[in-house]
Amino acid sequence: MSEPRTTANDRKQSAADADGNTGPTRAPIGTPPPGPRGLPLVDSTLAFARKPLEFLSSMREYGDVARYEAFGREFVVVSDPGLVEEVVVARDDEFWRGEFEHEFGDLLDVEGLFFAEGERWRRQRLLLQNAFTPARIRSYADDMVVEAVRLVENWSDGEVVDIREAMSTLTLRALTRSLFDLELGDGRADRVRRWVHAMGAYSDSEFFGARAVLPTWIPSRAEREYRRATADVEALVEELVAERRGSEADGDDLLSLLATGEYPDGSRPTVEEITDQLQLFLLAGHETTATALTYACWLLAGTEDVWSRLEREVDAVCGDRDPTFADLSDLAVTEAVGREAMRLYPSLPFLQREPHEETVLAGYRIGPGTTVQLNMYGIHRDERWWADPDAFWPGRWVADGEDAEGDERSVLADPDDRPEYAFFPFGGGSRHCIGMRFAMTELQLSLATMVRRVDLERVTESIDPTPKISLDSGPVEMRVRKR
Ligand code: HEM
Repeated sequence: MSEPRTTANDRKQSAADADGNTGPTRAPIGTPPPGPRGLPLVDSTLAFARKPLEFLSSMREYGDVARYEAFGREFVVVSDPGLVEEVVVARDDEFWRGEFEHEFGDLLDVEGLFFAEGERWRRQRLLLQNAFTPARIRSYADDMVVEAVRLVENWSDGEVVDIREAMSTLTLRALTRSLFDLELGDGRADRVRRWVHAMGAYSDSEFFGARAVLPTWIPSRAEREYRRATADVEALVEELVAERRGSEADGDDLLSLLATGEYPDGSRPTVEEITDQLQLFLLAGHETTATALTYACWLLAGTEDVWSRLEREVDAVCGDRDPTFADLSDLAVTEAVGREAMRLYPSLPFLQREPHEETVLAGYRIGPGTTVQLNMYGIHRDERWWADPDAFWPGRWVADGEDAEGDERSVLADPDDRPEYAFFPFGGGSRHCIGMRFAMTELQLSLATMVRRVDLERVTESIDPTPKISLDSGPVEMRVRKR
């Protein structure tokens, strides 16, 4: 029998029960955070819906904890790294993902690890983290390089490519190949690809597009296509699970782990749970990494000196062969490029939490039902922690780097003075990204593989990042020059 999917009400209860967090309600203390109180609700809603990043940045004028109302809800924006750490680490048990965050999972009818709470989340995380140990990541690395080579070898000299589309293809192939042992190109993988595209189109139109503001009861074409593709992927997963369970092979991929593994209590995931989990991993693991790679390529193409420094590093480390897992620790500049791209353009630009019950943060009262937005985008560009915060400057991450010498900016940016949560692209605490090592490995190996073979020139000169499933750049056209 499959476990029934949790409802909005029992999710909150489940998280609270599991953490033993159902004590007596505290007397209200603290004052409400400052914010644009005079602003009519509809104005904040429109300002947030039109330009969410600019809107959140504008909240800084009220302080590191600021309150506003939109979409008929109350929000509190947190722009201080110490307070972010307090919410996700020290006081983790006081918060859950919250209603607002769950609406997105409900729309797509996906729960999986990201949206599970309490004991249900804990047992899933314990099982699934076995697919992300350092040894497992090492075993996926060659597949990542094979897919990056395949992509770049298909480009011709002078061709203009949409890097966002190309990176999305690359990360989807790498993900299905390493985590599900499926090679895109065979008919089954195309079914997965169709489903991922249908999910993107559906969430764009319903959650981030006009239909979010003007809801309608008539299912859109995007919804009908998403439902059709979902039914098809569910049938595919059923086939795959039956095959894996029937085979002698002891696969080390995520799908095999789910099909043949056990929860800590000895029970096994049902086919419905496996489908749900695979859907969630496709959702969480593919656009996020593609986004980071897209911005990295675009930023690199705009800074010739960084690009040549990267080329020098990759040539010195790899010579005339492709990069491997063993090279990662020597590819410091490549890693710095990935980090700097995620600092400027974090794939998930703000994280959201809700307190189980009324609580106090930095002396301010935060009521139940309030969505706390951890302002990653704002903190990553805050001049209190970052010298020249809007500049793409990977040298800030490289100890004794070439451009640290004689660069005035390095004096302003002593990393030892920076709070840990001034940079948190993968979140933190118990709910930190389970795919962090996977993503960093893929970022480094893909960039190093590309840099060995091509230079990229910007055709799209400016971008307008918008938060969707991840921070969408829009199409990013670039001209390929073969090295
Ligand atoms: C550059 C790439 C990536 C970035 C920037 C990123 C970022 C994040 C962040 C910030 C969170 C925490 C969200 C929160 O606390 O509210 C998260 C959670 C998660 N990520 Fe990633 N992610 C990336 C790649 C991946 C990959 C490759 C996978 C899987 C293969 C993955 C799977 C997940 C899952 C399942 C969670 C939920 C974990 C839990 O709640 O226990 N992510 N990610």
